[in-house]
Amino acid sequence: MGNVTIVGSINMDMVTSTAVFPKQGETIKGERFVTMPGGKGANQAVAAARLGASVRMIGRVGDDPFGKILTDGLANEGVNVSNVEPVTDCSSGIASIILSDQDNRIIITPGANDEVTVDYINQFEQVLAESDVVLLQLEIPLDAVERTLVICQKHRTKVILNPAPAYPLPDTVLSMADYITPNETEYELLFKDSNEYQEKIILTEGEAGVSWHEAGKQKRVAGHSVQLVDTTGAGDTFNGALAASLSNGESLEESIVFANAAAALSVQSLGAQSGMPTREEVQEHLSKKELT
Ligand code: RIB
Ligand code: NA
Repeated sequence: MGNVTIVGSINMDMVTSTAVFPKQGETIKGERFVTMPGGKGANQAVAAARLGASVRMIGRVGDDPFGKILTDGLANEGVNVSNVEPVTDCSSGIASIILSDQDNRIIITPGANDEVTVDYINQFEQVLAESDVVLLQLEIPLDAVERTLVICQKHRTKVILNPAPAYPLPDTVLSMADYITPNETEYELLFKDSNEYQEKIILTEGEAGVSWHEAGKQKRVAGHSVQLVDTTGAGDTFNGALAASLSNGESLEESIVFANAAAALSVQSLGAQSGMPTREEVQEHLSKKELT
């Protein structure tokens, strides 16, 4: 398997499950509360590691109790955490997630993720140069994302940019990424009015599957219908799996088919990382699908 480096966020997810959302000014009783490791960067790292890639995380945690729990959690998944440094007098990233039967709503407080700065990234030029695939999201400062892209371009390292959560991005950033993986909302915001990046875009549409362009042709793989428990982290599973598969030398189409199946399997349990499958589980699911 290849080397995947994730540059991104590490959060503790504080998940409250409720039947309905409270209205403005209203207090309601929730059903269940759990803390679970999350953050788009860390989730993608775990997804890629479970699928057998050799994974390194570049990111930061706080010096609060969550920082150690999050770092140990990544290490237990086999992720190399030697470039995850704690920030003094800072909280770890926190995602307050409210999960109802229909929907989820999330507030992110970046904390230590905001200390993934340009200077911090510069220390790891060698790591980025030696990676087969680098995976980025948008929960760290944009100038650090941009700096990572510049270093990767210099060393011809392949980069997947997962533009999540989405906000308008400069062309410098979009043009340096090899692949860009928006969901429908992110696509609307970033690409609705232009065809410029069409050949890089891999659009994930949940149950509807994935579409992309290759050699001038539109391609699509269908989604899988599975028992849905929690979609948090499904996009991260897709991205981690895509990176793992591409780093292993598999073709773009094979990698997308693989990642699409991995993401479908991940929504069957509560929590971003808990349902992420192993390589064997994805292969088994894909072979069953061929028989039906
Ligand atoms: O993509 C899901 C993740 O987004 C959650 O784990 C949460 O931490 C937020 O960053
Ligand atoms: Na899950």
